[in-house]
Amino acid sequence: MTSELIRSARDLRNNHREAEGRDNMVHNPWRNDFPILKNNDIAYLDSAASAQKPQTVIDAMTDVMKHHYSNIHRGLYNFSQVTTKEFEAARKTVASFIGAASEREIIFTRNATEAINLVVQSWGRMYLAQGDEVILTEMEHHANIVPWQILRDQIGIVIKVIPVQEDGTLDLDRFEALLSPQTKFVSLVHVSNALGTINNVKKIIGIAKDFYPEIKVMIDGSQAVVHRAVNMKELGCDFYALTGHKLYGPTGIGVLWGKYDILESMPPYQGGGDMIEKVSFDYTTYKEPPARFEAGTPAIIEAIGLGAALEYINNIGMAAIEAHETVLLDYANKALAKVEGLRFYGTAPEKVGILSFTADWGHASDIGMILDQCGVAVRTGHHCCQPLMQHFGIDGTIRASLGLYSNQQDIDALVAGLGKAKGLLG
Ligand SMILES: Cc1ncc(COP(=O)(O)O)c(C=O)c1O
Repeated sequence: MTSELIRSARDLRNNHREAEGRDNMVHNPWRNDFPILKNNDIAYLDSAASAQKPQTVIDAMTDVMKHHYSNIHRGLYNFSQVTTKEFEAARKTVASFIGAASEREIIFTRNATEAINLVVQSWGRMYLAQGDEVILTEMEHHANIVPWQILRDQIGIVIKVIPVQEDGTLDLDRFEALLSPQTKFVSLVHVSNALGTINNVKKIIGIAKDFYPEIKVMIDGSQAVVHRAVNMKELGCDFYALTGHKLYGPTGIGVLWGKYDILESMPPYQGGGDMIEKVSFDYTTYKEPPARFEAGTPAIIEAIGLGAALEYINNIGMAAIEAHETVLLDYANKALAKVEGLRFYGTAPEKVGILSFTADWGHASDIGMILDQCGVAVRTGHHCCQPLMQHFGIDGTIRASLGLYSNQQDIDALVAGLGKAKGLLG
């Protein structure tokens, strides 16, 4: 049954392509950099959940372990010094990738989730009090909702929410109405993982800071840095969080960027080795940021892998990635518009290659399973955005998300698989 479906989906895809006269597929020059895509006939359309890794990242991580792996910052011997140098070089690469003023503003975390929790528990517990207001948006990933709810339960802050409009953009008039003398923090996603909407964060930061310059703003850039160039010196926010595994890097590594003077004013998030100056049973003093926030042995190999991923992206150029994905998104929109009975969520004019939809002829999870049998990997469900799904009155969508390695054949496979699913379920 499975192989029969796969065969027929491939046939359908080829027929579809011939019928549309699309034999001249645009060549993707980067796809072969990803061994997993060379070795498998899969239409991988789940890059928003986690991206595949290029050979250069695999090599950089393997090289450390093969040639000079050791713990960092502590050893006087050669291996430790070489590994420390590579780890700290990765921090510099991250700083330059996001236009930070200095690598001292780059804190390595486990992922974006930990970066957000760090801000909430360190800055939030220090500077927020009962009744202070934090503004989020209706399209937040749970990673930018739940930490604030934990803080609410701990100290009694108030959470307010900017609503989403029908096309998946934020209602900025409502945002302005939500601002009050109690507003202390605004925390929002740069690009929605469920809708693809690119929020005009610069404008939102401006509105908040115009209202009261002391309001702090954190941007969850997990999905944005994959598709667009960002620059911390220009954006105007106070914190920016990102996660390595969506950026063609490994799992287990993320980044919190913060303005240095703010980081300096914050207490540690976790305590342990490598973040202290002096420890006695009477008192302990802490290192300056970023070390203050990096307790314990960090994800050494993973940080070096993230550095390699960013070098890889730099070599291609974000402008080239954006141009490629824009053409492909347009192709995907046109191709999916021809499939009957789909309803799309997230049709903002400014969006990245994330296509979220439901079908009136089948449930998202049944469709996802049939697509899997056709060799097409998409995500189905609430995408860790349950409040957003509640807004639209649905329990989930089918989400196809593009990466720099995606090509027209992937979209053709998706369309063919949907045709197959409709035939079986419709
Ligand atoms: C917008 C957004 N924020 C935060 C996260 C959390 O990322 P991580 O699980 O790597 O911490 C994700 C992951 O899907 C995301 O899409």
